[in-house]
Amino acid sequence: MNLNDVKEAAAFLQENIERKPEIGLILGSGLGVLADEIENPVSIGYKYIPHFPESTVAGHKGQLVAGTLEGRQVIAMQGRFHYYEGYTMQQVTFPVRVMKALGIDSIIVTNAAGGINKTFNPGDLMLIDDHINNMGDNPLIGPNDNQMGDRFPDMSKAYDTLFLDHADKCAERIGLTMQHGVYVGNTGPAYETPAEIKMLRAFGGDAVGMSTVPEVTAAAHSGLRVLGISCISNMAAGILDQPLTHDEVIETTEKVKEDFLRFVKEIIRTLPNN
Ligand code: 6GU
Repeated sequence: MNLNDVKEAAAFLQENIERKPEIGLILGSGLGVLADEIENPVSIGYKYIPHFPESTVAGHKGQLVAGTLEGRQVIAMQGRFHYYEGYTMQQVTFPVRVMKALGIDSIIVTNAAGGINKTFNPGDLMLIDDHINNMGDNPLIGPNDNQMGDRFPDMSKAYDTLFLDHADKCAERIGLTMQHGVYVGNTGPAYETPAEIKMLRAFGGDAVGMSTVPEVTAAAHSGLRVLGISCISNMAAGILDQPLTHDEVIETTEKVKEDFLRFVKEIIRTLPNN
C-alpha cells in the first residue's frame, strides 16, 4: 500500500467534497440504496479518482457518495471491489485507506451473506461479532508503513464492542431483531460445497461471504472503529434442498432493504462521537 497514492486520491476528493466525513460506509450487494438517501450528495465515479480500481459486477454501482445522512457527515462506497474480480488485496482495501485519510473515525461495513447457522433465516440481519479470514491472503502482506498502522495489528477487538452495543440498542429501539455471529470470508466466486459449509460450521462460522474481511482487516490496521452487518440473503449450500443463485441474493436484499435502511440510519443518527 502506497501512502502517496492514498494521499493523492484523498486530496482529489477533498477538492470535490464540502465537509470532512466522520463515518465511512461500505455498501454490499443490493444495499447500495442507502447512498441514495444521502442529502446534498457529491457522487464521484471510481474511474475519476486517482489510483482507484474500477468496479465490474452487475448490481454494484461504482461510486463514492459524500454528504449528510441523519445530520452526520458520511462517505459511502456504492459498490465495492471484490478479490474474486481479480483485484489484489491492496486494491480491495485502497478505498478504506482513502476514507481514513479523509478523516473518518468509524466505518460501517455491510454485505449479503449465506447463512451457515441453521437457526438463521433468509432475510435476517446479523451483526458481525468476529470474522474468520479464509481467503488465503491478507491485505497487510508486504512492507508495512508505520504511519498507517502496526506491523502486527491486534485483531482481538476488530469489531468494536461499544459500536456493537450501540447497534443492538438501535435495533431494539426500532423493533428489529438482530442475529449475532462470526462471518467467514471466502474468495468465491463459486459458492461453497455442502461439505465446505459443514466444515465452516464446525469451525465456528455463522455466515459466509466473499467480502468484508479484507476491508475490516485494513480498517483495524488503520485504527478505525468498525461495525459489520450481514444481510443473510440465503442459506448456504446443503442446508436447504435448493440451488444457490445470485438472483436469490438480490431478491432477499430487496425485501430487507427497508429494515436495513432504517437500522443503519438509526445507528448513524445516534452514534456517539468517537
Ligand atoms: Cl452461500 N457463500 C458465499 N461465499 N457468499 C455468499 C453466499 C454464500 N450467499 C451470499 N453471498
